Amino acid sequence: MKALILYFSGTGNTKYVANLFSQALSAKGVSVQTRSIEEPQPIEPGYDFLVVGCPKYYEYPAMFLLQYLRKALPAAQQQTPTLAFCTQASAVKTDFTGLAKILQQKNHELQVTQFFTIANDLMFFGGFAPTPAQEAQTNREKAAQAVPGLVETFLAGQRQTEKIAPFLRPVYHAVAAGCTATMPLFAMKYAASDACIGCGLCAKSCPKSNIQMVEKRPEFGKNCIFCTRCINLCPAHAILYGGKQYPQYVCRG
Ligand SMILES: Cc1cc2nc3c(=O)[nH]c(=O)nc-3n(C[C@H](O)[C@H](O)[C@H](O)COP(=O)(O)O)c2cc1C
Ligand code: SF4
Ligand code: SF4
Repeated sequence: MKALILYFSGTGNTKYVANLFSQALSAKGVSVQTRSIEEPQPIEPGYDFLVVGCPKYYEYPAMFLLQYLRKALPAAQQQTPTLAFCTQASAVKTDFTGLAKILQQKNHELQVTQFFTIANDLMFFGGFAPTPAQEAQTNREKAAQAVPGLVETFLAGQRQTEKIAPFLRPVYHAVAAGCTATMPLFAMKYAASDACIGCGLCAKSCPKSNIQMVEKRPEFGKNCIFCTRCINLCPAHAILYGGKQYPQYVCRG
């Protein structure tokens, strides 16, 4: 049996959990291919199980992943059992119904859903405090304990999906759609300080090719999905938001 794990991870939390799924599926004798949606190759059909993962952005699975699946996931010849997960800062349940619809159109059946509280990587929005390092570590350990059980449930063909109050679904969706659409405006607040050493790592790492190096300084375009990768990975801690420096989040998974 073959499984494909597709994920988007801005700062490493989702990649960490995707690797946990890879290990747990392999331990059950499943042949696993794990890949980020940033890899350009088309998806090869022929897998028996699909696992998809992404961060939660604005109370919803990252729309970047949803857009990718709409465009790049081929319709399966046979209905394919699928597991979806989100990583997030909070312990608020995640609504996977929009994702389930896209998958259904591609003959994939969302059988198991799960959110994992890991840590906050969005350090520059006031109401959203950084997760203490010890708490983040405990959350990663909890995820490592939970994943093998989820894989057992999934491979056994059982259903385990999180239930969201129906009246909340359109609210979550509207918030996420609105915030995703206005992101490019917020992202214009990124700028590099004089501490920049011109290494170009931010530009090379941006999943949307939204950063151009001009005279050894990054310039930010209008295509940002606000994944926070650039600001968190800069080795010189030189990317400012709204003119201010914030602590960096590093996933130590
Ligand atoms: C733009 C943005 C919006 C976010 N919105 C939420 C949210 O609504 N709820 C939440 O719990 N975490 C939220 N987070 C935190 C991320 O979901 C969390 O840090 C996630 O694990 C990051 O995954 P990654 O490291 O794979 O990119 C947000 C982070 C970003 C960058
Ligand atoms: S990663 Fe940091 S130091 Fe390197 S070019 Fe970007 S802003 Fe400058
Ligand atoms: S410019 Fe935007 S999309 Fe690119 S790495 Fe930075 S936050 Fe992510």
